[in-house]
Order: sequence, then C-alpha cells, then structure tokens
Amino acid sequence: MEKFANKKIVLAVSGGIAAYKAADVASWLTKNGAQVHCVLTKAAAEFVSPLVLQSLTGYPVVQDEFVTGPGWGIVHIELAAGADLLAVIPATANIIAKIAAGIADDALTSTVLAATCPLFMAPAMNTHMYENPATQQNLQILRGRGWQIMPPDNGRLACGAVGQGKLPAVEAIELELEQLLLAATAEPGRRDLAGKRVLVTAGPTTEPIDPVRYISNRSSGKMGYAVATRAAERGAEVLLVSGPTALQPPDGVRFVQVESACQMREAVLAEYAACDVVIMAAAVADYRVAEPADHKIKKTGDNQEMTLRLLRNPDILQELGEAKQQQFLVGFAAETHNLEEYAKGKLAAKHADLLVANDVSRADAGFDVDTNQIIIFAADGGRQTYPLTTKLAAADYILDAVAARINI
Ligand code: PMT
Repeated sequence: MEKFANKKIVLAVSGGIAAYKAADVASWLTKNGAQVHCVLTKAAAEFVSPLVLQSLTGYPVVQDEFVTGPGWGIVHIELAAGADLLAVIPATANIIAKIAAGIADDALTSTVLAATCPLFMAPAMNTHMYENPATQQNLQILRGRGWQIMPPDNGRLACGAVGQGKLPAVEAIELELEQLLLAATAEPGRRDLAGKRVLVTAGPTTEPIDPVRYISNRSSGKMGYAVATRAAERGAEVLLVSGPTALQPPDGVRFVQVESACQMREAVLAEYAACDVVIMAAAVADYRVAEPADHKIKKTGDNQEMTLRLLRNPDILQELGEAKQQQFLVGFAAETHNLEEYAKGKLAAKHADLLVANDVSRADAGFDVDTNQIIIFAADGGRQTYPLTTKLAAADYILDAVAARINI
C-alpha cells in the first residue's frame, strides 16, 4: 500500500540555492504514490532544472500562468483545485513577503492565493534576511493564517555566513509533510472509537537494583503515547499506564505513572474488567532484581565482580489473555530477527487478537525514534505490512485494524 496514494500535492519552489533539494522531496512524494505538481518561480528555475522535476514526478512543471494545452484551463486555479497539500520548499524572503501581502503576480503566488488546502513552507535564506523584522513579521502573519512553517536550521550558509537560515535536512522536511498529509487526509472528526474504553501501556519499566540504580531498556514511550493520543482523538475513553518517560501525557487521556513491571501489572489489572481494548506497547522488563538493596550498594575491596540474582517478571499480556472476556487484546513484539515466527508465537501464546511486530534492528523503527515500520498479525489469520511512517500514523494503522474488528 502506497502511503500517499491518491494525494495531490502542489510543490512550490522559489528561487534560493536550496531549490535543488526540492527534487529529493518531489521524488520521495512520488515514490510514495502522490501526484506531485511542481510550480516554480523564474528564479527557482535557475537553481533547479524544471526537466528534473518533470522527469521525477511525471507531470509538467508550471512556470508560467499563461500556458495552454489540451485540457488546460486556468493553470493556477487547476493546480490549486483539489490539492491535499501545498508546500513551498524552499521559501525565500521575497516569496514569503509576497504571500504575506497577498500578491499574485506569477504562477506560484497565484496558485498559493487560490489554494484552500493545508499550507506548509520551509524558509531558507541568509541569517540576517531571516532575522530581519520584516521577514519575521511576515512569517508571523502567515502563522496566523494557518501556515505550518518549519524553522530553518543553524549551520553554514551558501553565502559563507554561519547562522540560522539553512533548509532543514530533506528527511526532516519529509517527516513534517507526512504528518501534515496524514492529518489533513484523516477523516475530520472521525469518532470510530467513541464509547470504547481503551487502555494503553507505554514506555519502559525500571527494575530497581538499589535506591540509585535500576535495570531498564531503551523504550521512549513514543509509540504508546501516539496510540493513546490517536485513540483519544478518535473518541475513545483512554487510560495510559506509562513507565518513566520524558513525554507529556497527551490531552484528554487519564494517566497512571508506574515504574516497575509489577506496578504496571497492578495498574492494568485494576482497570482490566472495564476495558474494551487493551494495547500493550510498553517494553516490560522480563526480569527484576530478586533482592533490591535498600541502601546504595558500595564497591567493596578490590572485588571485580558482582552478581545480581534476577527473577522472572509476570507476563502481563499473557495474564490478560488468559482472563479475557469481552476485551480485545493487542500486543507488540520488538524483534531483531525471525520477526514473523516470534510475532506469531507471541500472538498465540498470549491469546492476543492482534500482534504488532516491529523490527527493532532498523535504525528508523522501534525504540526511541519518531518513525516505525509495523506488521500486524491477527488471530483471525489477517496479516498486513505497513510502510515506514510516523508513530502517529502507525498508531492509526493499529487503531484501524482494531476498529475494523470491534465495530462489526
Ligand atoms: O517506546 P518507543 O521508544 O516508542 O518504542 C516502541 C517499542 C519498540 C517499545 C514498541 O513498539 C514495542 O515493540 N513494544 C513491545 C516491546 C516488547 O517488550 O516486546 P516483547 O516482545 O518483549 O513483549 C511482547 C508483548 O508482551 C508486548 O506487548 C509487551 O508489552 C508484553 N509483555 C512483555 C513482557 C512482560 N513481562 N509482560 C508483558 O505484558
């Protein structure tokens, strides 16, 4: 499944040195199934060849409002019509000023003025031009009109100066576009989980060794928090049971903070009877220290070794699976190899309805990153592989799979 299938995106390129990077963005959007229509200012065509953009996207590049051809109406109106997103990459100080002033004197600015879709820009310019109050005021005006503006990075600029003004890395821009596209195209006000009580676990557990040390893992909580966020936005009554993370609890979500696996088990079991759906995204420690010290353990003599006796923690998901009544259970599997085999094993052993497998050997998936690539295995035999995407979008995929099975 291509993640931007049927999405129409207007990529507006203005004339800065970073314009050539728009080609990478155009290529990435196209590869992911979007129809990408590029519109260039005259200056942009000096920095990036329209032929490159046309070859990458498969669509003619618009540089002139007055082109005609079979099927062509008024170019800037047709470009803007039905667009899912308009992105100005890069946005120069000049184009920002023109857009803020509502000027429409070329194909790009006319298209912007005619657009009714979500709007994004990534400014890039010399530091002094960026910091100039005129530019800052213009950006403020555009933010007030709902533009999503990605601040430029700090670094060495084409003019040789060092400071803020550099176009952010293409990958970072792509992530922003993806968030916007998925938010823009999600059915507005979708409430398909209304009336459902959803319990989500997130983050690591910490298992104390002594008052200052613990055993834990690399879970940041991002995946579980994303699931809780989207479940609440889709109308569910959400309880988030979280191990220690650096994240803020999402709005509209009941929140219980725990530390150890045993505390997480207690918090989950206390609420389980009333739940419709439980989604266990937490990375629960499999073992805890048998006898945590009540004082800080000191190094003794020249002893070079220390032994900790570990006890197996209760398997919360398995316990829930065995006590299951009306609850729909979703487990996760973080694997570095044999993903499918282990995921299917856990699905069966833990009596889960869905098992979300993520390959945590990838640098861009699993622990402590903003993206994930998931495969969902279902007890009803379903199996679906999803593209690498943001954790929020992955959360929606998971909730889609849940909603499709509980709302029948
Ligand atoms: O938090 P992030 O940085 O965003 O990273 C996300 C994640 C990688 C932690 C998440 O996507 C994920 O895969 N979570 C499950 C990690 C894990 O512990 O997998 P597991 O294979 O060890 O456990 C399988 C399932 O049993 C999980 O649903 C787990 O919550 C549950 N479990 C495990 C052990 C235990 N004692 N009790 C449990 O309930």
